[in-house]
Amino acid sequence: MKEMLENIQKQAIDDIESSLNLKELDIVKISYLGKKGKLTSILKDMKNLTKEERPLIGKFANIVRDCIENKIKKYSEDFFKKEMIIKLEKEKIDISIPAKRQKIGKRHPLSIVLREIEEIFFGMGFSVETGPDIEQSYYNFDALNIGENHPSRDPRDTFYIDSKTVLRSQTSPVQIRVMENNSPPLKIISPGKVFRADSADATHSPVFHQIEGLVIDKGISMSDLKGTLETFIKTLFGEDTKTRFRPHHFPFTEPSAEIDISCFSCNGTGCSLCKNEGYIEILGAGMVHNKVLSRCNIDPNIYSGFAFGMGLERIVMKKFKINDIRLFFENDSRFINNF
Ligand code: DAH
Repeated sequence: MKEMLENIQKQAIDDIESSLNLKELDIVKISYLGKKGKLTSILKDMKNLTKEERPLIGKFANIVRDCIENKIKKYSEDFFKKEMIIKLEKEKIDISIPAKRQKIGKRHPLSIVLREIEEIFFGMGFSVETGPDIEQSYYNFDALNIGENHPSRDPRDTFYIDSKTVLRSQTSPVQIRVMENNSPPLKIISPGKVFRADSADATHSPVFHQIEGLVIDKGISMSDLKGTLETFIKTLFGEDTKTRFRPHHFPFTEPSAEIDISCFSCNGTGCSLCKNEGYIEILGAGMVHNKVLSRCNIDPNIYSGFAFGMGLERIVMKKFKINDIRLFFENDSRFINNF
């Protein structure tokens, strides 16, 4: 048995010395020291030896194994160094190659215009407030003086999470939250997502954005409302834009108005953009209803204010002549890269 071990040692050394790289060396290693390797199989036969022979042969076998292992280790280190040098030479960095261009995302058209709108209101001393998308129906309806039977409460129009919780259908509930938590004077806008149970088509989407506005102070009148919104409209759409205030009804304002702007495509003469109206509706507004003020503990005998709300998508669609609202929400970079 000792002879067999000596033979194996010799063979192994020969094989190690004639291997040319790490891969070949690995194969040699497995063929001797692996589970089914030559040395391993011989050691399995040790059980057939006599009691006296066993420790002697065992000791010798260990020497043989150590010798093979050491030789493999040394060769493997040498091969590793050599292969690393070759690899490093191959991988030389050519610093003259132009860098790969990094793709940078673009701002979404809704964000571009929202920033512009915010800037205009910042210039008039407004600040930005936000409210939750998931809203208590109290804030979305009751506190805004929207009656029990108002059609907008219908689950076919508003998404209910439970009987007291909705996905807000408008940004107006932020008015209430701001009035409850702050005392006048107040001058805020509040942009954000709103949700309505509409199926998506070219002009409808179950999610869209509104920008709410609220001003409360002593002596605020309809002329403040008019002046503020006219300034806003002329700054956003151009000095020549004409505005038209039409009487309207909102439960939370009295009096209420809808505000149209002269069509910036045809200047009021009528075209396909304004559907031959010459005007485009962009805002709802009004003087904050006394009932709404009182509910928020603001004394209507001391304070008054105005509020307004506009849809962001409509404004952006008109501004950039986009004909399908769904494009805003598809996240297709071919669309977004146009702006
Ligand atoms: N919340 C209204 C809507 O979604 C828009 C609106 C109208 C907001 C008049 C106001 C307002 O603050 O005063 O149709």
